[in-house]
Amino acid sequence: MTDTSSIKRLSHPSPASAEARAALMRNPGFGKVFSDHMVTMTWNVERGWHDGAVKARAPFAIDPASAVLHYAQEIFEGMKAYRTKDGIALFRPEQNARRLVQSAERMAMPPVPEDLFLEAVEALVRVDADWVPDGEGSLYLRPFMFASEAFLGVRPATEYIFCVIASPVGAYFKGGFKAVTVWVSDDYTRAAPGGTGAAKCGGNYAASLIAQAEASRNGCDQVVFLDAAEHRWVEELGGMNVCFVMEDGSLVTPPLGGTILPGITRASILTLAREAGLRVEERPYSFDDWKADAESGRLREAFACGTAAVVAGIGTVRFNGGSFTIGNSGDGPVTARLRSELVGIQRGTVADKHGWVRLVA
Ligand code: PLP
Ligand code: COI
Repeated sequence: MTDTSSIKRLSHPSPASAEARAALMRNPGFGKVFSDHMVTMTWNVERGWHDGAVKARAPFAIDPASAVLHYAQEIFEGMKAYRTKDGIALFRPEQNARRLVQSAERMAMPPVPEDLFLEAVEALVRVDADWVPDGEGSLYLRPFMFASEAFLGVRPATEYIFCVIASPVGAYFKGGFKAVTVWVSDDYTRAAPGGTGAAKCGGNYAASLIAQAEASRNGCDQVVFLDAAEHRWVEELGGMNVCFVMEDGSLVTPPLGGTILPGITRASILTLAREAGLRVEERPYSFDDWKADAESGRLREAFACGTAAVVAGIGTVRFNGGSFTIGNSGDGPVTARLRSELVGIQRGTVADKHGWVRLVA
């Protein structure tokens, strides 16, 4: 590692006017509107991470032989900045920093030191503070890193670019917090043991798109993946973890065995659930049990959780040959309570007992 400690601030020749920004932020949807700036940093063998800068957001010029375009050596993170009564806050950003390191290790990429990651994210939030929405919106931050070396041989690249961009967002699902419908994929799996399921790499999402498209064709918001080996155990959704609330007061969620993403929302929800007196069970849960428990009423609620989706109740489950509903097919009381506690902490209206919130501006 060399000259890493500071991120230069380069001036923006033509940032959006206050009026243009307000118009863009009025109804931003998810991931379609972008702030004025970005952070970039480069890595090579000689200099390590260097040339960190926050500057005007602009397209990259990369060589057509860049390794990422051929072998998908790419990883990313997803996190949000919230406007609170005390200032602009990030939620557990050090967890994102750590997960990017873990993803980098899996993908044979040079890790971004955690302090440098935090410095980069915070620099962008400060310079684009006006892009953090009021009310229920947030500024979604997308740190990512890719192999930029021009070389067609297959081996870990020797040059990388790290970048952070920001997007003011509203709800991920069109219906806001209305219960979502999920499609259980028969034909496709997301990750096998020994594969990249626990890494947040673009390739995982590329492989999931056909199944997500099938879910959409079947009128569903998200795809549910079962395990690759037995095609029996529920793993996670295309872009979220999944939890089940049982009649006996337990909260069941699939274990982190290397094939699912270790969600920061998932970890936070498990902590809040334990504190609320639920018995948390991280254990395999089969699709057959899901169906039988929903039909018998033993399963009271199910929800998806993740940074983009927050906490979204699952109402209906569809699969090849049928469907079933959970509870009253809406938001159950446990789901609603966990969501309001999590969102309250993130937005500074519920006490942050765990030190999860980091004020940055
Ligand atoms: N699982 C997948 C596949 C995801 O893409 C995400 C979203 O980032 C999650 C789970 C939830 O992770 P987190 O709560 O850290 O956002
Ligand atoms: C997130 O929640 O941050 C995700 O990455 C999910 C999806 C937008 C890919």
